[in-house]
Amino acid sequence: MTVHFIGAGPGAPDLLTLRGRNLIAQCDLCLYAGSLVPDEILAHCPPHAQKINTAPLNLEEIIKEIKVGIENGASIVRLHSGDLSVWSAMGEQLRMLRLEGIPYTVTPGVPSFAAAAAALETELTLPGVAQSVVLTRTSGRASKMPKGETLENFAKTGATLAIHLSIQVLEEVVEQVTPHFGSKCPCAVIFRATWPEQKIFRGTLDTIINAVDPDIERTALILVGNAIGSENFENSRLYAGDYDRRYRPANARSSIGNEKA
Ligand SMILES: C[S@@+](CC[C@H](N)C(=O)[O-])C[C@H]1O[C@@H](n2cnc3c(N)ncnc32)[C@H](O)[C@@H]1O
Repeated sequence: MTVHFIGAGPGAPDLLTLRGRNLIAQCDLCLYAGSLVPDEILAHCPPHAQKINTAPLNLEEIIKEIKVGIENGASIVRLHSGDLSVWSAMGEQLRMLRLEGIPYTVTPGVPSFAAAAAALETELTLPGVAQSVVLTRTSGRASKMPKGETLENFAKTGATLAIHLSIQVLEEVVEQVTPHFGSKCPCAVIFRATWPEQKIFRGTLDTIINAVDPDIERTALILVGNAIGSENFENSRLYAGDYDRRYRPANARSSIGNEKA
């Protein structure tokens, strides 16, 4: 028996992968990470499946539920919001499963930064403006930031910042990044992207604090950078008429074979 870790996506139930849905549809036991996994996704479980909300459990208790399930021959799915590669606590669970010799698989999900960018209808990387995205957060009670991973350091690069788990310290975020981006740099806050209650707040670093609904305390992403909502960028060379590429040679004698976009 195997434990299938599945990224359940940012909230909208139809932003679950087909692979994830198929695995959920054949499970006997579904462990899910609290209220950020919508009921519509849990509804893919077969009627007989046991569903356990792991929000009140600690790591040992979660692993115990998995071990009991394995002993009973259950097919197990473990659901986390968004994608599993960032802030999912998957790493510590996989490490314990390896120690226990319990097999697992990992199925990715749509991460919240991608859902937030889609809600804004914006590309986070634009030619000549930003070509990198930093997925980051600020220190929390559960996780301290490693030395060097400061907002100031990331802001210095000019990359687009997708700042998670930090809406409660929006003022500090603005204070730390403004000296590097400038007060007129675009900034947006997306609350519960893709959920029915989604809210979008747009502004610049000097207006965003007043723009955001003060009741929003969690499940929001802060996006900062000059790419956000920009119309002022060069077209990429990828679709330029005179750009020679393998699938669209500029002329009959083109020798382009394996260029990178
Ligand atoms: C524990 S992290 C989980 C991240 C998740 N694994 C992912 O792939 O995005 C929770 C944080 O992600 C962000 N987040 C998760 N879902 C979101 C959503 N639907 N809209 C906006 N932000 C979201 C918020 O910053 C929230 O505080």
